[in-house]
Amino acid sequence: MSQKVRLRRLRYNKTVRDLFEDTHLRPQDLIYPIFVCEGKNIKNEIKSMPGQYQVSVDRLPSLCNRLIELNIKSVILFGVPDIKDDDGKVAQDDNGIVQRAVKEIKKTNNEILVIVDVCHCQYTLHGHCGTIDKGDVDNDKTVTNLGLQAISLARAGADVIAPSDMMDGRVNHIRNILDKNSFEKLPIFSYSVKYASAFYGPFRDAAENTPQHGDRKSYQMNYKNSLEAMREAETDINEGADALIVKPAMSYLDIIYRIKSKYSIPVIAYNVSGEYSMAHSAIDKNWIDKQVIFEILTSMKRAGANAIITYHAIEVAEYLNEN
Ligand code: PBG
Repeated sequence: MSQKVRLRRLRYNKTVRDLFEDTHLRPQDLIYPIFVCEGKNIKNEIKSMPGQYQVSVDRLPSLCNRLIELNIKSVILFGVPDIKDDDGKVAQDDNGIVQRAVKEIKKTNNEILVIVDVCHCQYTLHGHCGTIDKGDVDNDKTVTNLGLQAISLARAGADVIAPSDMMDGRVNHIRNILDKNSFEKLPIFSYSVKYASAFYGPFRDAAENTPQHGDRKSYQMNYKNSLEAMREAETDINEGADALIVKPAMSYLDIIYRIKSKYSIPVIAYNVSGEYSMAHSAIDKNWIDKQVIFEILTSMKRAGANAIITYHAIEVAEYLNEN
């Protein structure tokens, strides 16, 4: 049958298929999240995230060696301190858990880009992302404290500051305080668009940061909104963010696409804990094939993400390096 347009002509031959692929997933696109805990020689598997661990500082060099071997060049650090307080002061301690982790990685694996999550929730007894005043997470007091946390982490040698608290004005404040302290070259990757999401459930096991009362809806975004995401992105760009993070990712590809279409700034997708655990539980039961991981991560790149924070990083890089 004569038929001028046959799209399948480009699908019969694998080389032709490969030739015209327009989205690529590479190990160096991936940022691996690490939960750092106190103690020696600790590697605690996180129950709700099979294959993911809390690790002690002394175990970081061997983990980072493995990442480098796999060509994964970036990590994001989350602290799991033994001691917490009311306003997250432990996060500003130059000898705090993340500060020690940064120093250890920079000493042994200097080529790894060390991104640090800046937020209160893992460091406060109440588990909220900020400083509580009169029963409310006080925006401006939190911003001041985040600035102190950021500067302490910068002094420890962090390569990138990533505020994930969702307070207003924090990028502006962190930029100012970094600049005043001669850290004008240090980039800020801002969690600009962070939704209040049930997909964070397993992370709260991993980071031990479940809010002891209430929820995070007065600072994280309502998942029914998208124009508000554009305002969040625009605000952070104006305040000096160098890259934006969208979180969660899988159910928010429309947001990644919209931001990427409107602004010429790098966008990072955060493939969060619940997305990881959902995929893994079905894979581990043999209900779906492991290939879904590649499909999920590739969809984030196709939507416009330049990089992806993902717990799948190691298994994906292992596969990519083998094939
Ligand atoms: C808060 C923070 C959260 C995550 C990263 N940073 C969660 C929260 O708001 O409770 C979630 C990441 C994930 O689910 O993988 N600092």
